[in-house]
Amino acid sequence: MKYDFETVIKRYNTGSFKWDEMAAHGVNESQDIIPFSVADMEFVTAPEIVEAIKHELDTSILGYSAPTEKYLAAVCEWFKTRHGWDAKPEWILPSHGVVDAFFMAVRAFTDEGEGVILNTPVYYPMYSAIKNQNRKLIDNPLINTGKRYEIDFEDLERKAADPDTKLLILCSPHNPCGRVWTRDELIKTGEICLKNDIIIVSDEIHCDLIMSGHKHTVFASISKEFADNCVVCTAPSKTFNIAGLQTSNIFIPNPKLREKFLSVLTLSNPHPKCNILGYRAAEAAYKNCASWLDGALKVIEENKNLIVNFMAREFPCVKISELEGTYLLWLDLRGLGLNYKELEHRNHEQAKLFFDEGYVFGSQGEGFERWNLACPTRCIKDALERFKTAYRN
Ligand SMILES: Cc1ncc(COP(=O)(O)O)c(C=O)c1O
Repeated sequence: MKYDFETVIKRYNTGSFKWDEMAAHGVNESQDIIPFSVADMEFVTAPEIVEAIKHELDTSILGYSAPTEKYLAAVCEWFKTRHGWDAKPEWILPSHGVVDAFFMAVRAFTDEGEGVILNTPVYYPMYSAIKNQNRKLIDNPLINTGKRYEIDFEDLERKAADPDTKLLILCSPHNPCGRVWTRDELIKTGEICLKNDIIIVSDEIHCDLIMSGHKHTVFASISKEFADNCVVCTAPSKTFNIAGLQTSNIFIPNPKLREKFLSVLTLSNPHPKCNILGYRAAEAAYKNCASWLDGALKVIEENKNLIVNFMAREFPCVKISELEGTYLLWLDLRGLGLNYKELEHRNHEQAKLFFDEGYVFGSQGEGFERWNLACPTRCIKDALERFKTAYRN
């Protein structure tokens, strides 16, 4: 089937975070401008997902619903065929979101005052999960080689050795740096954590968004020891652009860790469950939408190449981290000579470009922008023209 990756649906007044933010800066319906910030896609929903939701509405009642065996089997089958991971349905706990899940994991596996490691810069709610719950942020800054970001294992080793450090939240693939951690990097990380009794929460929400030439490794698939020491957070929300349906699958292979997590989950939600339309959409997506995803990835890669080639030609001072995974390109704009506030202002007010500002991912992100590439290619072409005009001088 030929899917539509070209139509733009303007999401003004729908409550869309990123469209509302753009509208607050004076952009309106009459302009052909889309935002490139928050990580959802500007692609129309796959028809298989729309059909599954319509079918549910036509034939069912929207009552309380647990995940069905068929649903859980479809989730596991996806991980088996796409990632070679033999996961069991009984490992899965429901969560409305991956953010909810890593907040809960912090409560389940650490006490107040204990340390949680992050590889920074990183997806900003991870900082909140630590700080808002009175845990201690243990910063393991990534090393920017200029081409890509790498884990500082010496620093990790040192910080993991503190007996008060109990958890590492791994962003895999990494948002915003675009890394798909190699199996070797994951093994090194996993071994350091095992040695120091640190549990790993592996946020793998971007695991299906992998660029050609790279391969995602599910952390728990590496060994039984690793599986028993981790929580793997997944969701169909980024992969198939259904974040608004709030249906995530949290895999916890170790029954003891699962019980602990469940005890936090059930504190405020005695019968954990997601949303019936989310379940139906996710099942349809995992069963029938692999080729939609492949089509979306092609467009994302083409969009990335357009930007990389444009910057190399027109603004060689702009450095771009290699995009290995996610649809979020990480651009270092410090070479343009503006401070990060001036950059934000110029983007918003002159270029009408709305990215996620790099500084929200941590202080190392000042002067960087995160560009969401999941949109029709013509939107990227238009944006590059606006960029050129705004920065030509
Ligand atoms: C790394 C990462 N984790 C989690 C989320 C959000 O997860 P959810 O919407 O399921 O809470 C995002 C969204 O951008 C993300 O990039």
